[in-house]
Amino acid sequence: AHVPGLGADIAPRRIDTAGVVGLGTMGRGIVMAIAAAGIPVVAVAQNEAQVAAAQKAVGTMWSKSVARGSLTQHAMDEQMARVTWSADMATLDAAQLVIEAVTEDPDIKADVFQELGRMARSGTILASNTSFLDLAMLADASGRPAEVAGMHFFNPAHVMRLLENVRTQRTAPDVVATIMAFGRKIGKLPVLSGACDGFIVNRMLAKRSREGFFLIEEGATPQAIDEAMTEFGFPMGPLALGDLAGLDVQAAARKARRSTMTERELRADFPEQMVAAGRLGQKTGAGWYAYDDKRKASDD
Ligand code: 3HC
Repeated sequence: AHVPGLGADIAPRRIDTAGVVGLGTMGRGIVMAIAAAGIPVVAVAQNEAQVAAAQKAVGTMWSKSVARGSLTQHAMDEQMARVTWSADMATLDAAQLVIEAVTEDPDIKADVFQELGRMARSGTILASNTSFLDLAMLADASGRPAEVAGMHFFNPAHVMRLLENVRTQRTAPDVVATIMAFGRKIGKLPVLSGACDGFIVNRMLAKRSREGFFLIEEGATPQAIDEAMTEFGFPMGPLALGDLAGLDVQAAARKARRSTMTERELRADFPEQMVAAGRLGQKTGAGWYAYDDKRKASDD
């Protein structure tokens, strides 16, 4: 596909090994997608307990796929063998592309980018899975802005084909070419967005969620809204999708957008109320809906 501003002659960089830092829901899914595509991946979290929890959760998810018949035991063993689990950032030295998927907190992400900028080899691409934070700020923190880009995956990241790649004003053209090529290599459909509020998908989804909240205030039930939207053709309704993405993530995104929100949007603070009640969505077993099969996100 033609990418504006990107000559067809720009060769992508070679990625033999990828790295993922942050092993919550998204980090785990990204690790799974990369390993399933046959690429070695270094998976790093900040302590041994988080690494062990992630390794166990990924093993469980793949085992369920084996039980369902969508993955063979042999393929699962090969995928597992491609992942190097580590609590040491220095292990990322082996990677030519590092995807950051730590908590959506600007200070925490900036610290990680500063550390990556310091320790990653020159030429290593530093990508963030952020869905709403300022990529230019992360680029500054890294000290090597030309090598910083966004790679925004969608939950569940090993299943969803869409990948939003994001470039800042300073992202080098061959970095953009590389993340587009890498996205295709791991079986995704990459689209390119500028670094703007919400990128493409969340910009649209936020409006659907917002209207869902207003509809509840105006008398519709969450079930009715979700049923109507799924019947209409969306894979999930906006409330069920909030449960999948995490109501804590939705509340954090609202916080980041506060200054531009209307009175009415601020008042419809359902995600914040859910978080206060400990209902974060699928990962805690309850959000708008109750879940038996709790898909625990962890420790991130
Ligand atoms: N976590 C992990 N794996 C999951 C999962 C979950 N929450 N839900 C489904 N899966 C896996 C299943 O285990 C199964 O794996 P297998 O093929 O290896 O056996 C595979 O997905 C397919 O599952 P199902 O057979 O149950 O398939 P469905 O047809 O019900 O599809 C779905 C499930 C893919 C989640 C589908 O409902 C869908 O596409 N939903 C919309 C998801 C979406 O829009 N995500 C974006 C969220 S927003 C976001 O991430 C942005 C961020 O910035 C907040």
